[in-house]
Amino acid sequence: MKSKSKGGFSGSLGFILVAAGSAVGVGNIWRFPYLAAQDGGGVFLMIYLLLVLTFGFTLLTTDIAIGRRTKQKALTAFGSINSKWDFLGKLTFLIPIIIMTYYGVIGGWVLKYVTVYLSGNKSQATQSDYFTSFISSKVSPIVFMLIFMAVTVFIVYFGVEKGIERFSKMVMPGLIIMIAGIAIFSLTLRYTDTCGVERTGMQGLMLYLKPDFTGMTFSKFLKILLDAMSQLFFSLSVSMGIMITYGSYVKKDVNLSRSIKYIELFDTGVALLAGIMVIPAVYVFYGTQGMTSGPGLMFISLPRVFAAMGSIGTIIGLVFFLMVTFATLTSSISIMETLVANFMDLFHMSRKKTSLIMGIVFSAASVVICLGYNVFYFKLPLPNGQSAQLLDLMDYVSNSFLMPLISFLTCVFIGWVVKPKWIVEEMEASGDKFTRKKLYSVMVRYVAPIIMAALFFQSTGIL
Ligand code: PHE
Repeated sequence: MKSKSKGGFSGSLGFILVAAGSAVGVGNIWRFPYLAAQDGGGVFLMIYLLLVLTFGFTLLTTDIAIGRRTKQKALTAFGSINSKWDFLGKLTFLIPIIIMTYYGVIGGWVLKYVTVYLSGNKSQATQSDYFTSFISSKVSPIVFMLIFMAVTVFIVYFGVEKGIERFSKMVMPGLIIMIAGIAIFSLTLRYTDTCGVERTGMQGLMLYLKPDFTGMTFSKFLKILLDAMSQLFFSLSVSMGIMITYGSYVKKDVNLSRSIKYIELFDTGVALLAGIMVIPAVYVFYGTQGMTSGPGLMFISLPRVFAAMGSIGTIIGLVFFLMVTFATLTSSISIMETLVANFMDLFHMSRKKTSLIMGIVFSAASVVICLGYNVFYFKLPLPNGQSAQLLDLMDYVSNSFLMPLISFLTCVFIGWVVKPKWIVEEMEASGDKFTRKKLYSVMVRYVAPIIMAALFFQSTGIL
């Protein structure tokens, strides 16, 4: 099939930064630190690192190699290898469709907090109901979401090299500098609370890094394992067609094996640094109780931490939310690009026209999601025991339910139908050695399918 969406990355640096841009997002900056804090610090870190080097590597390699070898986007890649497996492309393509309906909404929330710190009035965000009353208001979340979506579409509109690659090359290095800067600052903090107890940033760091085995049981260990696994999917942007699409833009002479190592390193490095930035700061001012889960950590606890820092808190808060905005933008761009590239091929339309249409369609869908906190408010119990609104429901269906299923099917397809050799050949197509070849074959055939099936059944509530 002839692809209409020509164009690609200029070289391996462009590819690494764009793929890392997709991978590094809110998942690294708020989800990872809070999971680490809740799951016994160093225990979670060790498990996570091990999983990145085995599962993360396997899934990332599979996606990128499929993309480059078939030169097809997610929707048609599987069918072009074996027509019986065409359904898997369609199933995979559902994920960016679902995620794009709510990712811009979260982007809008982050943008709103940038304006809070820009206005200098940081204490307003410390009131207990500030976040909830903002997201449940009717107009403001929609306005911020629309601005965020407009920027996303604007960059995708200019194409792979001139839009996405140029933007990622600009913001990714800056992101690392900002995050490292705040992390170092976090370690220097100290604070004496009203009971006269002094807490320091270094103590917070120990809390984060030291493995805490107290009360560890087998079932607790299993829970940590599952937490780490689902974090890994989300964080590496795998099994959602994005890395297949990006893989299709990579030139044949690029050393894939080495590029994948850098992408893993980038994503995991930012997550680890985010922990060093967030955990000591929250611990110093609020002790261990400050580590609430979910959006609460980023939108409620951290603003209080910035307020407690005094005047420098305004600057730190501004830099922090700007950084999160950029990280969220590069991720949002990767979802939008996957949608645009696939629809361009499907309807034989130009990039510019497709970008605009997608922008309008998904902005409209995002409006509905915004209204999920007022007009369409409901509380739905999920199999994992939490109760969900519209946004959480979309998130659950895509990340907890569909992603393990797609990973399972992809591993079965590659491991048993196509055979790992097909991927290995592509990994070595540039003339470089694929050093983790053996590990890859074992993982994709045996280990990954079993674990993915377990994760899938767990999300349905059967396990
Ligand atoms: N990988 C991103 C993160 O860690 C999230 C993401 C999900 C990006 C889906 C693109 C698509 O935050």
